[in-house]
Amino acid sequence: MLTVSFALLALVGLSSAIGPSPNQIKNLVTFGDSYTDVVSTGDGGVAWPIYAARDGNFKLFPFARSGATCSNNLTSVPFPSLFESQLPLYFSEKANGSLRLIPDETIYTLWIGTNDVGDTALLTGHQAPGVTLVDTVSCAVNWISTLYNSGARNFLFQNMVPLQHVPLYSSDSYPNRYWTAQRNTTEWSLFMTELVNSGNALSKLMLQTLAPTLHGAHIGLFDSYGLFSDIIAHPMNYLNGTAPLNVTGAAHACVFELNESTSQTGVCTDAVGPAADSFLWFDELHPSEQTDRVVAREVAAAIRRKSSKWTTWFS
Ligand SMILES: *[C@@H]1O[C@H](CO)[C@@H](O)[C@H](O)[C@H]1NC(C)=O
Ligand SMILES: *[C@@H]1O[C@H](CO)[C@@H](O)[C@H](O)[C@H]1NC(C)=O
Ligand SMILES: *[C@@H]1O[C@H](CO)[C@@H](O)[C@H](O)[C@H]1NC(C)=O
Ligand SMILES: *[C@@H]1O[C@H](CO)[C@@H](O)[C@H](O)[C@H]1NC(C)=O
Ligand SMILES: *[C@@H]1O[C@H](CO)[C@@H](O)[C@H](O)[C@H]1NC(C)=O
Ligand SMILES: *[C@@H]1O[C@H](CO)[C@@H](O)[C@H](O)[C@H]1NC(C)=O
Repeated sequence: MLTVSFALLALVGLSSAIGPSPNQIKNLVTFGDSYTDVVSTGDGGVAWPIYAARDGNFKLFPFARSGATCSNNLTSVPFPSLFESQLPLYFSEKANGSLRLIPDETIYTLWIGTNDVGDTALLTGHQAPGVTLVDTVSCAVNWISTLYNSGARNFLFQNMVPLQHVPLYSSDSYPNRYWTAQRNTTEWSLFMTELVNSGNALSKLMLQTLAPTLHGAHIGLFDSYGLFSDIIAHPMNYLNGTAPLNVTGAAHACVFELNESTSQTGVCTDAVGPAADSFLWFDELHPSEQTDRVVAREVAAAIRRKSSKWTTWFS
C-alpha cells in the first residue's frame, strides 16, 4: 500500500512538474512563417528546425510555411496561414493515421507574428477592418488551446524578435525587395518597436493566464526578443564569420530605386561562404543561417532542460 501511494505521488509529481523532463521529448513539431520554413528557407541556407532536431536529437515534423500569418481572417495575405492551412494539414495527417505522435514525447513550437505586424498587415493598415494587435496575438496564443484539445501537451511559444532592427524596419532603411515605395523610416521603426514590444508583453500575460487552465500541459515561452537583443549587444558571443561582425546590415543586401518594382533584383552586396556567418541578418527581413544555428542550439537546450537562459516554463 505504502509503495503504491509513493509511486502514485511520484507520478503526480512528474506530470505536474514545471516544463518537460530532460529526456522526455523525442518529436519536434514546428509551426510558423519563413523564419521556420525548412523548404522555402528565409536564411539563405539551412533553417533552424533542422539544426534543432540535430542538436536535441529530435525527430522533426515541419509545418511552418513562408509568408504565413496567424489567420487570414485577420490579415489576408496569399500565403498558407497557421489556422487555415498549417493546422488543417496537421489535423488531416493526424486523422488519417499518417502522423502518429505520442503526446508526452512531442513538443509543438510556434514562431509567428513577423508577417502579422509587418508591412502587408498591421504596420500599413492592411489588416481586416477593426483588427488590432490584440487579435493577432490572441490568435497565436489560441494555437496552444487548439492543439491541446486534440491531445497535444508540450508547447514552446517563440515571441517576436526586435523587428525594429531588421534592415526593412530600421530607421535608416533603404528601398529593398520587400518595400520600395516612399515611406518615413523613422515612423516605421517607432511603430514597429511599439507593435513588437506590446505584442510580446501581451503574449506573455496570456500564456501565464492560460497555463494553469490546461491540466497536464507544459507551456514555455522562448524569448527570441531577448536572444536577438543580446546578439545585437554582444555579436562576438554568437557570430563567427570572417568579415567584420555586422548586426545592422544584411549578408545579402539589395538596394532598389525608390518606386522600383520589387520583381527587379536591385543592386546587391553579398557576403558568401565563411563571411556570411558574420551577419545577424541574411536579407532585409530574415535572420542569417548562423543566427538560426544559435536559435536552434538555444531551443534544443531549452527543451532538453540544459539551459533556462531564454525560456520561461509557465507549467
Ligand atoms: C475564420 O472565419 C471563419 C468564418 O467566420 C470561422 O469559421 C473560423 O473559425 C475563423 N478562424 C479563426 C482562426 O478565427
Ligand atoms: C493523409 O492526409 C494527408 C494530408 O491531407 C495526405 O497528404 C496523405 O496522403 C494522407 N495519407 C493517407 C494514408 O491517406
Ligand atoms: C518622419 O517621422 C518623424 C517621426 O514622426 C518626424 O520627426 C520626421 O520629421 C518625419 N520625416 C519626414 C521627412 O517627414
Ligand atoms: C554591414 O553590412 C552592410 C550591408 O552589406 C554594409 O552596408 C555596412 O557597411 C556594414 N556595417 C558594418 C559596421 O560593417
Ligand atoms: C514615387 O511614387 C510616389 C507615389 O506615387 C510619388 O509621389 C513620387 O514622386 C515617386 N518618386 C520617385 C522618385 O519616383
Ligand atoms: C560558426 O559556428 C557554427 C556553429 O555554431 C559552425 O557550424 C560554422 O561553421 C561556424 N562558421 C565559421 C565561418 O566558422
